[in-house]
Amino acid sequence: MIFLNLKTYKEATGKRAIKLLSFLKKIKSKIKIIPIAQATDIYRIKKELGIEVWAQHLDPIDEGRATGYISAFSLKQAGASGVLINHSEHKLEKKAIIFVIKKAKENSLKTLLVGHTKEMVLNFDKLPIDFLAYEDERLIATETSILETQASIIKDLAQKLKHPLIVGAGIKSGEDVKNALLCGVKGVLIASHFVKAKSPKKMVKELISSFSPQ
Ligand code: G3P
Repeated sequence: MIFLNLKTYKEATGKRAIKLLSFLKKIKSKIKIIPIAQATDIYRIKKELGIEVWAQHLDPIDEGRATGYISAFSLKQAGASGVLINHSEHKLEKKAIIFVIKKAKENSLKTLLVGHTKEMVLNFDKLPIDFLAYEDERLIATETSILETQASIIKDLAQKLKHPLIVGAGIKSGEDVKNALLCGVKGVLIASHFVKAKSPKKMVKELISSFSPQ
């Protein structure tokens, strides 16, 4: 699986998100590619491209008196199929994490929960989620991928976890994907190197072909 986190990059906002992602409509691959978009772009992406799209965050609130917050119901109505929870750029307290997982389930949204340390990831494995991600925030948007520096931690996690493990931070090449697979990882989360790539399409194709021998 390839999760493309668009964050709030201008190149991946509004009409530019459509331009950036339009090639995904034509890609025929068994490897699932899921853009994770800003809440304000989910409806547009779903409507104009008709592809699966996830949200970047969900607030721990009930629908109703919660001005300006993002509810699970609103994400579902906008067309999201899933939601990223506890990204290091949008952290939640443990109690809030448990609450938003429950709200996501009630609204049939899939969940990808992020842990920022090995311990946190192991601890999150008990929760009723769909996917578990490990991202070391120090490596986000750098030239050093998490596979280069933390392969042994990742391997250990992949062996211990009951949930499928996704990794992210600094991932930029097919080589990273191959190394992730060797560690037992099921997917990758990518942001900056995708959004800023000269050819995002070419980059995604390279990542896909690195999954293929599986
Ligand atoms: O969620 C993906 C992310 O935080 C990794 O970011 O820019 O290192 O690919 P980046």
